[in-house]
Amino acid sequence: MKHSWRVSGALLAAIALQAAPVWAQKGDAEAGRIKASTCVGCHGIKDYSNVYPTYRVPTIAGQHEAYLTAALKAYREGQRKHPTMNAQAGSMSDQDIADIAAYLAKGGDKE
Ligand code: HEC
Repeated sequence: MKHSWRVSGALLAAIALQAAPVWAQKGDAEAGRIKASTCVGCHGIKDYSNVYPTYRVPTIAGQHEAYLTAALKAYREGQRKHPTMNAQAGSMSDQDIADIAAYLAKGGDKE
């Protein structure tokens, strides 16, 4: 049986990621998707509305990458105070923040 050399979708996606613009700290949106999975429950990335708990949560999907990076670093460093977000960002590395910001800046899972 002949082997087919068709290029897989995953490989194409990997190539596309390599071609993405280079930022000061390069965020990997695919890694960010996984790291941001815990954020969805509150930030309701898909439809911008939070079902439960029912308090108001700012929209983060689609915000500017630099803004998201600055906000998460401010929470991590305690310059911006909010118990939940201080806890969320507290254990993030610069790379984590870059990845998450890259993912969210592209709109998260919203098409
Ligand atoms: C338990 C609920 C909850 C979870 C989980 C959560 N957040 Fe938040 N987040 C909030 C709330 C509430 C605020 C508003 C805090 C404030 O007023 O400063 C906020 C604010 C933010 C902001 C600032 C938005 C702005 O407009 O300035 C960013 C960025 C953010 N969150 C990112 C994340 C990321 C990334 C994750 C996952 C790693 C996450 N959040 C997980 C509740 C949550």
